[in-house]
Amino acid sequence: MIKQYPLFESLGARFPILMAPMFLVTNTKMMVEALNSGITAAFPALNYRTDEALRMAIAEIRSQTSKPFGVNLIVNKSNIKYKQQLKTCVELKVGFIITSLGNPKETISLCKPIGIKVFCDVVDLMYAKKVEDLGADAVIAVSSIAGGHSGNLPPEELIPMLKKHIKIPVISAGGIATSSGLKQALELGADGVSVGTVFIASHEAGVSDEYKQALVDYSGKDIIMTKLISGTPLSVINTSYMKSLGNNPGFLNKLMHKNKILKKYIKMFIAVKGMKAIENAAHKATYKTVWVAGSCINDIHNIRSVREIVNSLTEVFNNTRKTG
Ligand SMILES: Cc1cc2nc3c(=O)[nH]c(=O)nc-3n(C[C@H](O)[C@H](O)[C@H](O)COP(=O)(O)O)c2cc1C
Repeated sequence: MIKQYPLFESLGARFPILMAPMFLVTNTKMMVEALNSGITAAFPALNYRTDEALRMAIAEIRSQTSKPFGVNLIVNKSNIKYKQQLKTCVELKVGFIITSLGNPKETISLCKPIGIKVFCDVVDLMYAKKVEDLGADAVIAVSSIAGGHSGNLPPEELIPMLKKHIKIPVISAGGIATSSGLKQALELGADGVSVGTVFIASHEAGVSDEYKQALVDYSGKDIIMTKLISGTPLSVINTSYMKSLGNNPGFLNKLMHKNKILKKYIKMFIAVKGMKAIENAAHKATYKTVWVAGSCINDIHNIRSVREIVNSLTEVFNNTRKTG
């Protein structure tokens, strides 16, 4: 593949791959390994409870690599730390910001003038056009097969549509765990890819061994979409705990749909409660296993280092662009 990937090259990456931000999973070890393996990477600011911890994480990564990297900000009202997180990212001049779940206007207006790139998560053309008009540097096209909060359209539909109608680079997110998956995404016209799930099954990932092993043991058909955890569709492994929850929307969900005034508060409550469940399951073995992952776990057969995963993803490139 001789094609050039200017956006990724401008971030010091030799391959057009972004290690996607993952709540509770991405840690500084993964970041350093990814950046030093020839790709770029971002972590969610929310992985750090305090501003001091966020600053320390940025300093720690910078002490081990000179490559620029990104921070993911949830830019809607559910993230009460957003203003401080943005202020810190601007002050410390991180390489780029990935915005999700909200309007990126303020982030773009503060970051662009000082040269911090802003990439925005989008799931459809309307929103992609909106963030392009606001000045986003790229869109991250979250497809229906992405791990976490996924979109509605399959990549085969979403990527060509965005490429046809917007001018900024389109990064494809969802379903990529192999070199052939990467090739397919680039052939659809993507200017790069954002890869999450496969990196959970890495030695460096900050989650329990049980969670990592589940990605090897379960297959793509065990992935279900559920609204029961965060209130919006989330892809999780259909563990016996998830099966025990069944399709019952639960008392709070039912109440939310009946009572418009309470809806906002119940939604927030469900989101916070769901995040707590994910947090508990991510770090220790518990019967309440809520393991977030995408259907590309089908292609995960062992637990490897981040560098090994990068090397296998990039096999599609010729020998002259080996990682080092
Ligand atoms: C465990 C997990 C946690 C995630 N957390 C976040 C997050 O905090 N912020 C975000 O914008 N996206 C999050 N995502 C979505 C990823 O950034 C990315 O879009 C997705 O993983 C790509 O699809 P893939 O998992 O099929 O590679 C998460 C995904 C997973 C699997």
